[in-house]
Formats: sequence, structure tokens, C-alpha cells
Amino acid sequence: MTTDSLLFTPYRLGGMDLKNRIVMSPMLMYQAANDGTVTPRQVLHYGARALGGVGLIMTEVIAVHPQGRISESDIGLWSDEHIAGVRRIVDAVHACDAKIGVQLAHSGRKAQLPGGCVAPSPIPHSEDSATPAELTTEEVRHLVQYYGAAAVRADQAEVDCIQIHAAHGYLIHEFLAPMSNQRSDEYGGSLENRARFLLEVVRKVREALPASKPLLVRFSGTDLIEGGVTADEAAQLAKWLEAEGADLLEVTSGNITSLYGGDVYPGYQVKFVQDIRRQSSLPLASVGSIHSADLAEYLLRDGGIDLVFIGRALLRDPFWPIHAAADMGMEPPLPIPTYTRSTGPYHRGF
Ligand SMILES: Cc1cc2nc3c(=O)[nH]c(=O)nc-3n(C[C@H](O)[C@H](O)[C@H](O)COP(=O)(O)O)c2cc1C
Repeated sequence: MTTDSLLFTPYRLGGMDLKNRIVMSPMLMYQAANDGTVTPRQVLHYGARALGGVGLIMTEVIAVHPQGRISESDIGLWSDEHIAGVRRIVDAVHACDAKIGVQLAHSGRKAQLPGGCVAPSPIPHSEDSATPAELTTEEVRHLVQYYGAAAVRADQAEVDCIQIHAAHGYLIHEFLAPMSNQRSDEYGGSLENRARFLLEVVRKVREALPASKPLLVRFSGTDLIEGGVTADEAAQLAKWLEAEGADLLEVTSGNITSLYGGDVYPGYQVKFVQDIRRQSSLPLASVGSIHSADLAEYLLRDGGIDLVFIGRALLRDPFWPIHAAADMGMEPPLPIPTYTRSTGPYHRGF
């Protein structure tokens, strides 16, 4: 397809070639089996968005440890038993000429499991949440190994890239923010110490992945709340993440507690990219109420981002990219060429 639209212009990230700049944002669907294995419904869910023309699909959170699930219906990659199911999603997505990454995560104090939850410090997420057990220094080091092992399994499942979830009040974010991290060991205190877990995880996952497969990090450009990650701290984190071999930073914000401290409007998080852009030469992406083709195109051209993450719009409409192309007056990108037989003048039945 010839186009002057940046949204539909191919993009190369590390060794991964994307056919467009549209990324499906990670969205937890609570549809896995109780042992963390993938169900047929999830294969269909992701396959449908690939069929709809998304360039890169990022899965929902995939737990690196059983205690790191939000619920018992989350996907896991803490055991070899999980590889085959993730591979089925990967194959479905590849069959539609799209790329796929897994979002590796540990939910920390946000977990709602019968066995309770863990966190850097025994401080609950909100008034209604359980008080987490404080992780020992040894347990923190052990979790870094779990991230590495999950990354090896993701690679065996043939994913194209991995995203580390370091935002939205999940475990890594809980280490970064002073309000949830009051530790006195090497993982608490100064920014350098609070960032240690994230940077060790990134190093471990980078080592586990072939150099051609990009490593993305989703992190908070600011938490907009006292005791959260500040914009200056996020800019420093970006420098360290670049040094550790991250290939793209995706900027989101807030949710270290249940209160969001800012305003929400179309493209509201892209402004947090600006400080990061000054500190890092890495490709950047953002997310948040980017639901029209025009806004996505504008942000790619003038908002300082290289890829657009799209969440709820893709839940509402798996064919969002095809409809976006039509909105822009372009030929729709059809993953199955025979679909062109559905348009044009009617000649005869088949
Ligand atoms: C149903 C749902 C589930 C979500 N699950 C995740 C998740 O697993 N991981 C994550 O990083 N963000 C998750 N998010 C946040 C989205 O990825 C995205 O950042 C947010 O919805 C804003 O983008 P949007 O306005 O385009 O929906 C979820 C959002 C929704 C609506």
C-alpha cells in the first residue's frame, strides 16, 4: 500500500519489522485457565486483532510467578507447561502477518489471590486492599531469576519481543515509588536503590533474549501524586534503561494507588514523553485515549512518539486499523488478500 500516512508506514525496532505503527496495548482479559495456561478464547481474542490489521500485539500481563497474578485467570509463564499455549497465540498472530510481544509482570500488592500478596513494604495499595507481606532481599533476587526464566520461555514460544511492565502499581512500580517502598536494604531509599529491581530485571531479560528481539519497558512518566515517581526521576530512569539495553520506552502515568492525580482526555499521556525525550535517544511510545486515526497520526508526527499503543478502542473494534485506514481515505490493509473479493461490483455468485 502506498501512503503518506505515518500510522501505516512500516517501522523497524531492533530486528523486528512492523508493517505499521499500531500497537495493541496490554489488556488483562481474565480468560486463562486456573493453572495459568492459555485458553482457545484467548487465541481467538488476539488472532482477531491481528486479522484486524494491528502491526504489533502486546499481550496482557503474563505472570512470571504464581503469586504475581492479579487473579487465578491470568496467563502465566512461570513453568514450561505454559509455553505451548503462548505459542498458540503467537502462531495465530503470525498467521495474520502481525508481530507479537508478551508483557511480563508481577502484580505485587495488587494481587487478589487466596494466598495473599507480596510487596517491597507492608503497605496496602488502597484502603480496601490486603496488607502485603514484605519481600526479603533474597526473595527479591529470586524474582529477578523468575523474570529471566519467563523470558527464556517467551523466546521458546517464538514471541517477537518482550515488554516489562514497570507501571500501574505493579511490583516493579511499587519498588520505584517511595510511597510503596520503605525498605532499608539495597532495594530501597535512593532512586538508584529503588530502581535496582527494575534494572536487574531488564538486564536479566535482555540476556535471555536474542539481540534481534527488542525489549520494551512500560513505565510511569510521572505519578502525579506525592510519594510517587516524579518526572525528573522518570527521565533519569530512561537513561539507565537505555544503558541496560532497552529498545523502546512506553510512557504511561499514575496508578501507584487507586487515585489518578491528573486529567484524562485524548492523548493525555503523550505530554509526559517530552522530558524523557530530552534524556534519551531511544524510540518512545505512549498510550491513553488515542482512539482516532487523526489523533494517532498527529501524535506520531508532532508528539515525539514512534509507536502508538491503543487499548479500549481495539477492545470495542478488533478491526480498528482497517477502519482507521478507511477514515484516512486509504485502501484498507487486508491480512487475507481474498477479502478484496468482498468489495467492488457484483459479477456473479461463487
Ligand atoms: C480491560 C483493560 C485491561 C488492562 N490490562 C492491562 C494490562 O494487562 N497491562 C497493562 O500494562 N495495562 C493494562 N491496561 C491499561 C491499557 O493497556 C492502557 O494503558 C489504558 O487502557 C489506556 O489506553 P486506552 O485509553 O487506549 O484504553 C488495561 C486496560 C483495560 C481497559
